[in-house]
Amino acid sequence: MNDVERRDFLEIAGWSGLAAGAALSTWPLVHSLGPSADVQALSTVRIDLAPIAPGMAVTVMWRGKPVWIRHQTPEDITRATAVDPSRYRDPETYAARVQRPEWLVQIGVCTHLGCIPLGQKPGETKGDYGGYFCACHGSHYDSAGRIRKGPAPRNLEIPPHRFEDDTTLIIG
Ligand code: FES
Repeated sequence: MNDVERRDFLEIAGWSGLAAGAALSTWPLVHSLGPSADVQALSTVRIDLAPIAPGMAVTVMWRGKPVWIRHQTPEDITRATAVDPSRYRDPETYAARVQRPEWLVQIGVCTHLGCIPLGQKPGETKGDYGGYFCACHGSHYDSAGRIRKGPAPRNLEIPPHRFEDDTTLIIG
């Protein structure tokens, strides 16, 4: 029995206290709610960081969302830490947003209504704060992904991630 089947089995077993008819009618629903094998395979993404030089950024897809990985330069880090975020809409220090200062990992989805902001690719406009700009309704994020202006309520989300070693990042 693979993991999907085992999990489905456990979920069905959890329903076993119900009348048999109810449990049977629940099966197609529970089964359809379970993630497909390809989605499960993408629940964790491993990235080799070695080719990503300081100043470069890459985008990987994780659970259907773009995750922006940026190798920060010393200047980037200085700029991101030289501010006092206590009066920002979503106050968050740079240190709170990163596990390693040289690697900024965030979900590239605007926290207003889910558009993809500009600023990740070379040549794109970076908004009024030198980071990211969501053209849908005019949200400006700074270089650390903190919301500074516009309707977005929160900073760009940080996905769960960890560093397996100095050159391997695991997202998810
Ligand atoms: Fe980004 Fe509205 S979706 S500003």
